[in-house]
Amino acid sequence: IRHLLSGADLDAATATQILDTAAEMATVAGREVKKLPALRGRTVVNLFYEDSTRTRISFEAAAKRLSADVINFSAKGSSVAKGESLKDTALTLQAMGADAVVVRHPASGAPHRLANWVDGSVVNAGDGTHEHPTQALLDAYTMRSRLGRLAGLHVAIVGDVLHSRVARSNVLLLSTLGAKVTLVGPPTLIPVDIAAALAPGTDVCYDLDAVLPGVDVVMMLRVQRERMNDSYFPSAREYARRYGLDAPRMRRLPEHAIVMHPGPMNRGMEITPEVADSPRSTIVEQVANGVSVRMAVLYLLLGGNNR
Ligand code: CP
Repeated sequence: IRHLLSGADLDAATATQILDTAAEMATVAGREVKKLPALRGRTVVNLFYEDSTRTRISFEAAAKRLSADVINFSAKGSSVAKGESLKDTALTLQAMGADAVVVRHPASGAPHRLANWVDGSVVNAGDGTHEHPTQALLDAYTMRSRLGRLAGLHVAIVGDVLHSRVARSNVLLLSTLGAKVTLVGPPTLIPVDIAAALAPGTDVCYDLDAVLPGVDVVMMLRVQRERMNDSYFPSAREYARRYGLDAPRMRRLPEHAIVMHPGPMNRGMEITPEVADSPRSTIVEQVANGVSVRMAVLYLLLGGNNR
């Protein structure tokens, strides 16, 4: 593949190749020499129009561990503030020799537009409420490393599905890899027909307590108040009571089940601190796995079999 814009870009063989390559990359972190020369002479641009902690830093760490040159571009403080368009910004970066552009943008579809304007590879690092495919890959990697497989797993994705690019990419990728997904949340935060539109076989349930005893993974989503109109959001207390994961609810899970969250978390709303910091939680592990997975993505797009 040339670009990674959507979970739908990945067939099972390509996704598995990325996860297997990430497992090899993870061994680099444990070695005395932590850098590989694979992308020496290549330039990776991190183009961030929206805030990020994990994604931006882990793409930077991943590119540096592969010996690429990294340019970090944040819209704040750039000529974007003077009204420069995405296209003109992209052409400027291209003139500086970007081999890959990692882009986060508040507008759904922005990375797809960018892919038409630049010669290099484009990686979607989160576009509006649309997709976040490398998050889905690192989530799949974490599930596979904790539970030993993906095919046949039952994954509940819980909460603000409506605004979640993480949920969309996870439904697409997990379905491709043979896992079953149930979307859980208040009816106002689960778009009508989303399950069928994304991946047939995906279920929707509005009762979290009923779903928990039958899942291998529960993935809690951040409630994205900044993208919401209060008219369709219950009170924070009511939301936590019905859809928050607390210790009594966690005890309804099978013993082997894991608790995930992409971060950043609203502690006390969708997840209590007790659950987030429990041994079942893979939240910190997900962040660490993100570096290996992004190394694998950059390696396969820029240095692997494609060029
Ligand atoms: N999970 C995730 O995308 O986090 P950031 O917004 O901090 O990058």
